[in-house]
Amino acid sequence: MLTLAIESSCDETSAAVVADGSRVLSNVVASQEALHAQYGGVVPELAARRHVEAIGPVLREALTQAAADWSDLDLVAVTRGPGLPGALLVGLCTAKAVALARGLPLVGVNHLAGHIFAHWLCGGPPEFPALALVVSGSHTDLALLASASELRLLGSTADDAAGEAFDKVGRLLGLPYPGGPTVERLAAAGDPHAIEFPRAFPEPGDYRFSFSGLKTAVAVHLERHPDARPADVAACFQRAAVEVLASKAAFAAAAFGARSLLVAGGVAANKALARALAERSPVPVRVPPLDLCTDNAAMIAAAGWAAFTAGRRDSLDLDADPSLPLAL
Ligand code: KG4
Ligand code: ZN
Repeated sequence: MLTLAIESSCDETSAAVVADGSRVLSNVVASQEALHAQYGGVVPELAARRHVEAIGPVLREALTQAAADWSDLDLVAVTRGPGLPGALLVGLCTAKAVALARGLPLVGVNHLAGHIFAHWLCGGPPEFPALALVVSGSHTDLALLASASELRLLGSTADDAAGEAFDKVGRLLGLPYPGGPTVERLAAAGDPHAIEFPRAFPEPGDYRFSFSGLKTAVAVHLERHPDARPADVAACFQRAAVEVLASKAAFAAAAFGARSLLVAGGVAANKALARALAERSPVPVRVPPLDLCTDNAAMIAAAGWAAFTAGRRDSLDLDADPSLPLAL
């Protein structure tokens, strides 16, 4: 059974063909990173326009690489939120057009659930209960999955997302967008104990996150110490961010008797985070390979397939929801 999935929630136009919700036949991603880098962040209107240009060729390439024809498809899955409204609509309208033209069932997918289901494509379904740490450019969520269809949100960020903090600190340090990979690279040359930055909500069992104070602390430090070594600042910021994420996730894994810890979203690509989690977690930590950490349509296919096999069908009235919270 083949799922065609489409992802266009932010600055990646992606289409994938996945067999039985687990075997990736193609996963084509057209990144707009270079387009937005000159502005230091994603420009929503430009993102939507670029999605319109890219979606057709990306779809065709996904079918070609999978050696599949329109008539081979069994399901259309598409990201319906959260994300940029104009960007989401491009993928959603395309998915509806395919579903209508081919008479295929349509399933709308929560982008954040998609990040978690990336794990189904690398190593298969996890041992339940599973703790999921979703760390992306726009979200920071800790959730407990009792099964593939039961999710309980334990905590989220009160302000900035983890990836957003990396991006903003990258900008403060004069690094190119996105800041995540560039801050990590610079941090490798720094002393992670040179500066002590603050940690928000440090009490054990408090699963709320906050990163805007940390970002401000970095800004104030750079103002007061113009001669500070940028690599030290990057290393100390990264240590503060990563330690908060790892300690809250490890505490939750123990408190809720999780049997696996799933890291998901773009920040899951961070090696320091993986190390901190491996040190602290009482259960095995799973980190997807890089191409499944960042936005891609294969993960949307995996989540869509799981929903479809559980009986979900969406109508052609399905709407985009830019502020959808994490749910299955
Ligand atoms: O999940 P994602 O690809 O897009 C969203 O759904 O937001 O995440 C993008 C975020 C960006 O903020 C980027 O800076 C961050 O993930 N990121 C990283 C790393 N690679 C990407 N953050 C820290 N370390 C990295 N190596
Ligand atoms: Zn994402």
